[in-house]
Amino acid sequence: MWRKLLAILSALLVFAASNQAHAEDGYDLWLRYRPLPESQQKQYAARLTHFVAPTHRPTILAAAEELQRGLEGLIGYRIVQRETVMGDGAVLVTTKGSPLLEGVDLPFDRIGAEGYLIRSIALYGKRVTVIAGNSDVGALYGVFALLKRIQLGQPIDSLDLTDAPRLRVRVLDHWDNLDRYVERGYAGQSLWDWQKLPRYSDPRYTDYARANASIGINGAVLTNVNANADVLRPEYLAKVKALADVFRPWGIRVYLTARFSAPIEIGGLKTADPLDPAVAAWWRAKADAIYGVIPDFGGFLVKANSEGQPGPADYHRSHAEGANMLADALAPHGGIVMWRAFVYSAQNAEDRHKQAYDEFAPLDGKFRDNVLLQVKNGAIDFQPREPFHPLFGAMPRTPLMMEFQITKEYLGFATHLAYLGTMWEEALASDTFRPGRGNTVARVLETPVDAGAVTGMAGVANIGSDRNWSGSQFDQANWYAFGRFAWNPEDKAEAIARDWAAMTWGDDPAVSGPIVEMMMGSREAVVDYMTPLGLGHQMATGHHYGPGPWIADLARPEWNPTYYSRADTGGIGFDRTATGSDALSQYAPDVAKRWGSLATVPDRLLLWFHHVPWDYRMKSGRTLWDELVTRYDAGVAYVAGMQARWAGLKGRIDAQRWAEVRDFLAIQRDEAQWWRDASIAYFQSLSKRPLPAGHAAPPHDLDWYKAIRTPYAPGNGG
Ligand code: GCU
Repeated sequence: MWRKLLAILSALLVFAASNQAHAEDGYDLWLRYRPLPESQQKQYAARLTHFVAPTHRPTILAAAEELQRGLEGLIGYRIVQRETVMGDGAVLVTTKGSPLLEGVDLPFDRIGAEGYLIRSIALYGKRVTVIAGNSDVGALYGVFALLKRIQLGQPIDSLDLTDAPRLRVRVLDHWDNLDRYVERGYAGQSLWDWQKLPRYSDPRYTDYARANASIGINGAVLTNVNANADVLRPEYLAKVKALADVFRPWGIRVYLTARFSAPIEIGGLKTADPLDPAVAAWWRAKADAIYGVIPDFGGFLVKANSEGQPGPADYHRSHAEGANMLADALAPHGGIVMWRAFVYSAQNAEDRHKQAYDEFAPLDGKFRDNVLLQVKNGAIDFQPREPFHPLFGAMPRTPLMMEFQITKEYLGFATHLAYLGTMWEEALASDTFRPGRGNTVARVLETPVDAGAVTGMAGVANIGSDRNWSGSQFDQANWYAFGRFAWNPEDKAEAIARDWAAMTWGDDPAVSGPIVEMMMGSREAVVDYMTPLGLGHQMATGHHYGPGPWIADLARPEWNPTYYSRADTGGIGFDRTATGSDALSQYAPDVAKRWGSLATVPDRLLLWFHHVPWDYRMKSGRTLWDELVTRYDAGVAYVAGMQARWAGLKGRIDAQRWAEVRDFLAIQRDEAQWWRDASIAYFQSLSKRPLPAGHAAPPHDLDWYKAIRTPYAPGNGG
């Protein structure tokens, strides 16, 4: 009897344990460290018997603990620390100058301040793996690199690796308000629990920092660009300090957004004029106070004179005068200013595409050395597809940093699967032709304007309090890819997707293969069902959720989708050639020439730069109208294809994550269809042309689509 009961009990326990092992909700991101097959475990184990590291240093301690945690998961045992090399399989986690490495010739000169080297060597006659940097954080990155290799099942027997980030500032911009509302956030509330800080520090802050460090991100702007001066008050700085203390061992600095009018709002001054000595003194004192509590504070991010934010233009001062005043306050402490170029005026009738260039290009060379101009991917606003921003290459004496949007404000929020790696690769690989061929956007970012000048990339974060961090399993890939591109702007989207898929879903090619295929075409599919052939900003008002191509009645012309499509009975598209707004003149002549001619402009940018008749003959031989309809349908079909692929993975992926993706794909499918139907219904009311054969008419009339309201769509204001 007892025996029987015991047998049942132990069977139940085994069942519970195996269930446990398979229950995944995405919290672990790409750092899942699930057990490798036994044969692989044995091979790795022989190489990784113990580690030696100066763990009294916080970053080395973090690295060592990550090594232990990772190996425990992957190969099933906890690697122990020893004072020195005790035999074969030692792992040395250390930095240049370590006495253990005396007499060993290692290429420290190749890895810069934050890079790493990993080398298999013989030391005291033992087989040793050295992971080292010129700094502790370099060694930490090296540990993550070794763990990645093991996650991917790659050999570690005779390693000779070096790698170093090509950009210095690799930051996430959190558009998080102090009440935890996240502007354009689709992943829950802000991670920062300001109410409980500083006395309670959520352990999740450490996991956030670990994840970032694993992909080389070294900064976090904690607050929204639509800034609140309160974060600069002493009581909030104490909270910021608590976060900085958690992040520091992981090589992550904190930054804050600086509201330009803070001297008035919290300082009691009458003005925020950057040339007023009292204002400059107030910011200097504020910077001193910040560095008094956070000695490695990164600096400020500023949105000024844009969409209602205060700025130097309020006092008839230039952006350079505003940025330099803040830069001078931070300079004694080594801080930087990231000044945003996302500026367009409510009074200016000029094509919005042109305004940032008009404003900033004449200021080239006028900014302090510790100012980075942060330029969005796209002169309009993070659209599913935009040509590269004309400022890249046009300000050779000013450090420019890229601003990508990781959160998918314009690409279907969290429920649409859209891998942004391909979009970012497209932008970064674009040739600016300034000063000549080959100076891609990536090269512009990577090349310091003079020796020691700062370089960088920012990503508007898609992270929130959701268990899966990003609002969906697949949006984690965009966080991951951002880190990889910030580390190396010349990396390849497909290679990144492969690594992510294998680490996140398992290293079985029958699983990761189809996943990578789904990802690689996914952004183009969104372009196709939302804004094909170079259309831009067709989203509904405010929240940008769903289609609104007919909207024409908003206060400012450039807020209306009709401003961008310029669709009428004659044709569609925004003429940005010399006969139109001439935005093309802001690009290098080679670029302007190629995009300015109908013969050479690629289809993907046709309507961005040209207004063409509905029966314009495309390269495919179809009329523009027929091509447009074909693209909308191709986008929807791609989503159906992803659904089919995903269905084929059932049983090969843990049930919870599989079901979540299945349900999200179903939402995406419905919404892609909605986009397609609503857009065709609207444009057909102008083109007056029949749908090409084989393409179904929208099931409802235009008014039906116009009547759809989604007032509570997330992310649009606090
Ligand atoms: C977009 C977005 C806003 C954001 C702005 C910015 O317009 O919709 O929410 O504040 O970009 O980048 O400043």
